[in-house]
Amino acid sequence: MPKNVLVTGSSGLIGSEAVEHFDRQGCRVFGIDNNMRRVFFGAAGDTLWNLRRLQAATKSFTHTDIDIRDRTGLEGLFRRQRFDLITHCAAQPSHDKAREIPIVDFEVNALGTMNLLEATRQHSPEAVFAFISTNKVYGDAPNEIPLSELATRWDYARAEDYAGIDETCRIDRTLHSLFGASKAAADLVAQEYGRYFKMNVGIFRGGCLTGPSHSGVELHGFLSYLVRQTLTGGAYSVFGYKGKQVRDNIHSHDVVTAIEAFAANPRPGEVYNMGGGRGNSVSMLEAIEKIEALAGRKLKRNYVDENRVGDHICYISNLAKFQAHYPGWKITRPLDEILEEMVAFQRAQMRRSPAG
Ligand SMILES: NC(=O)c1ccc[n+]([C@@H]2O[C@H](COP(=O)([O-])OP(=O)(O)OC[C@H]3O[C@@H](n4cnc5c(N)ncnc54)[C@H](O)[C@@H]3O)[C@@H](O)[C@H]2O)c1
Repeated sequence: MPKNVLVTGSSGLIGSEAVEHFDRQGCRVFGIDNNMRRVFFGAAGDTLWNLRRLQAATKSFTHTDIDIRDRTGLEGLFRRQRFDLITHCAAQPSHDKAREIPIVDFEVNALGTMNLLEATRQHSPEAVFAFISTNKVYGDAPNEIPLSELATRWDYARAEDYAGIDETCRIDRTLHSLFGASKAAADLVAQEYGRYFKMNVGIFRGGCLTGPSHSGVELHGFLSYLVRQTLTGGAYSVFGYKGKQVRDNIHSHDVVTAIEAFAANPRPGEVYNMGGGRGNSVSMLEAIEKIEALAGRKLKRNYVDENRVGDHICYISNLAKFQAHYPGWKITRPLDEILEEMVAFQRAQMRRSPAG
């Protein structure tokens, strides 16, 4: 078990789950988060509530609000403290947002990751470094796979694609969005620190990562935002593909246990797709129906004919490579349980602060 764990983006969905998990295991956990999610997405993206929750719930957690773009600030932290595990979750996470702020997006996602990798190489070269990348590094290449239109979802037409997209999918000559490009830059640099410098770097290309601690907003965190809009009576827009676009959803807990498995037996520079897999896949129409049933009310939805630029039509992560390398790991939270937990969590939050 790592002794000293650094978590970047520690007030976010995955970061906060990592903080709690490693704190429970008896590690000393150091978190970096400057609440930049609020800058990206406004008040609904504010993560301070989650920081306060963590501070109350943990035993050995220290938070600093360093910006990962601030090389000097990072250098100071890494000089003061040696780390055994770095879980890098801080990011500008939305592809729609990136087109409004392309330079900030690149600075946070690409340069911020480079800053952390280099600080690790200089000061904690033996550490395991887990980088949360994204399936957007594949751009819209997954849309080239032949699909069948079913009643409520698109699905892969050929038997060989059934288990989903694996890591051999190409990452160039495809439409990424600026976000996909900044994450792909970070993904490649992270691979290089593993392959070239032989550091213990692992790259996890996320499908839809989800869980109760998401400060869900329209531009990022689709299930969390869908639950919120259904519970509060807010409007929700479905963009294109007849609402039959498919995402695979993984609970933040299962992402963190994958990182833990990698940390116990790291494979330098390895890339893994990390999502909920076929079992946790759902289309927009199916998700709405499930959430409406749990919430006991209808969502006010409208349909916009045009899909989001480069949006995946059907994306299911093939988990076979990670499962072959780490056979002890598996998905433990089925989709229905994830949704039930999210509805209960957001209901409780609404009771505590009815205006929010
Ligand atoms: N949530 C998803 O569906 C999803 C899917 C694929 C990949 N990912 C990736 O997983 C990682 C974690 O995503 P998440 O859903 O937890 O995001 P999140 O927005 O909930 O958390 C990210 C945290 O990083 C912080 N942050 C942003 N910029 C920062 C900066 N410059 N310095 C310090 N802190 C900063 C934010 O305030 C936020 O709390 C990201 O790299 C994201 O790209 C997420």
